[in-house]
Amino acid sequence: MLRGDLERELGRRVASAVGSAFGVAISPEEAVIRPAAPGHQADYQSNAAMPLARRLEVPSPEVAARIVEQLEMGDMLEPPRVEGPGFVNLVLRPDWLERHTTELASDDRLGVPLAAPPRRAVIDYSSPNVVKEMHAGHLRSTVIGDSISRLLRFRGHQVIPQNHLGDWGTPFGMLLEHMLDEGWDRAGQHAIADLNRFYQEARIKFDSDPAFAERARRRVAALQSGEPETVTLWRELVAESIRHFERVYELMGVPLTPADNRGESFYNPMLADVADELVARGLAVPSQGALCVFPPGFTGRGGEPLPLIVRYSSGGYGYAMTDLAAIRYRARDLRADDLLYVVGADQRLHLQMIFAVARIAGWLTTRAEHVSFGLILGADHKRIRSRSGDSIKLLELLEEAVDRAAAVVAERSELTEVERGRVARAVGIGAVKYADLSGDRDKDYVFDWDRMLAMDGNTAVYLQYANARVQSVIRKAGGPPAPGTAVMLPEPAERALSLKLAQFPTAIEATIEHLQPHRLCTYLYETAVAFSTFYERCPILAADTDALRASRLVLCELTSRVMVRGLDLLGIEAPERL
Ligand code: ARG
Repeated sequence: MLRGDLERELGRRVASAVGSAFGVAISPEEAVIRPAAPGHQADYQSNAAMPLARRLEVPSPEVAARIVEQLEMGDMLEPPRVEGPGFVNLVLRPDWLERHTTELASDDRLGVPLAAPPRRAVIDYSSPNVVKEMHAGHLRSTVIGDSISRLLRFRGHQVIPQNHLGDWGTPFGMLLEHMLDEGWDRAGQHAIADLNRFYQEARIKFDSDPAFAERARRRVAALQSGEPETVTLWRELVAESIRHFERVYELMGVPLTPADNRGESFYNPMLADVADELVARGLAVPSQGALCVFPPGFTGRGGEPLPLIVRYSSGGYGYAMTDLAAIRYRARDLRADDLLYVVGADQRLHLQMIFAVARIAGWLTTRAEHVSFGLILGADHKRIRSRSGDSIKLLELLEEAVDRAAAVVAERSELTEVERGRVARAVGIGAVKYADLSGDRDKDYVFDWDRMLAMDGNTAVYLQYANARVQSVIRKAGGPPAPGTAVMLPEPAERALSLKLAQFPTAIEATIEHLQPHRLCTYLYETAVAFSTFYERCPILAADTDALRASRLVLCELTSRVMVRGLDLLGIEAPERL
């Protein structure tokens, strides 16, 4: 059976035909294979001829004709044809697609090969700040990071999540001081629900009471130098917050655990050493009392070189320095092949500078990528806020999602009470995640309950419902078809569905290559649509022959497996009944 990306295989064949016909080497990507748009008599088209025509100074229809002559068809392809100015139309042979689908149905990886060799990816995601509650930006980082982790793991790569908690730095001076003023007991009772308010109270006191501000500053120093009472108190504060985060992850079904926590504080003992190394390499230089690196190519509006602050004039270290220590640790100690940072677009410059410095310092020799994302907007198209104007609280938002989904699910009476609770959670959380994942992550999107919970359109519940419908057909048939049942594809609608199912590995490849989960969403949506056309046009249980009935059940079963796996790779559950 052909494993992996069908488009790449076709690209390989076209590239090798180009090699034989013209003696020029092109890559499978340069063969420009695309699924043919409806209306063309083809499954795929190669668009290689036009650019080659320019390069070889041969008219493009002739280039295409010579590709067609040389193309290896094997048992996979019908004789190819040239269309228009030089498109090469490619059609899969029906018997090949039937065999391929039959084999796919008994392949537990659904045609997706394991990466050889696997890479080790260190992926920084979620990364909320202690004491402040998680907000919409952390939702995006958590959802996108979780999906990318799942995709990489499924592909056979090793994934090391790093939850870069904001658990260190100057805000802790005022927080700890405020805790002591109020008594930790009082804070303890309030901490989980009101961490945010606690933070705000401390902030107000810090801004309005100079004596408090001074105490807060001394408290930072005490924390950084490891003064025991301060450290104990800080630990409690952090632990309280981590319990809050765990509740959020649990509700979201995100398998981040305390073992994945590597907060900013983890790097504190390394900072002096990293600073020394930067000085020794001549990279860090004194600037206005502080210690800075000026990576080449980064300038401000007036063309002045931009600094990355290694050490403030006060002697303290900040966010940037912690990230330098973190990148050295991830590259050198964790031996990452790929360093991924799932962080909002507003930190682009910061991360680009970190990457640049880490490269000059020689720590970073492999891939580092900012997996950036845009904002979640409210109905007013501004950054989403709660009714009181604060930043939105993630836990409340998720609870509301489950409540709203429960109302949708309540209309369906065949479910038991227990099932309904589970389904409401799957639908509610799924809706929020899918709304986040289904658009290009770099873009902002508007948070809209009605749209994300709509039963039709490109939503999680549409996909969940499609899968439940497939499952119900299989139940009515008395269970899945016998293993090895042969697939036949007499009707165009079942052929189209089969082709979609054969494209699962292509969708996974593209999603991983660009780290863009929306590509997988689009694929799953198209698959659900292809299923629904198949379902309308091709009788399953009442098929003309037993063999056809069994074949159609194989398509049902395979569709469901693709949907369930695909949704799982997005971190979304697919209940059997809805
Ligand atoms: N805690 C940061 C924030 O909430 C995100 C950290 C991202 N990761 C990093 N290595 N800087 O904005």
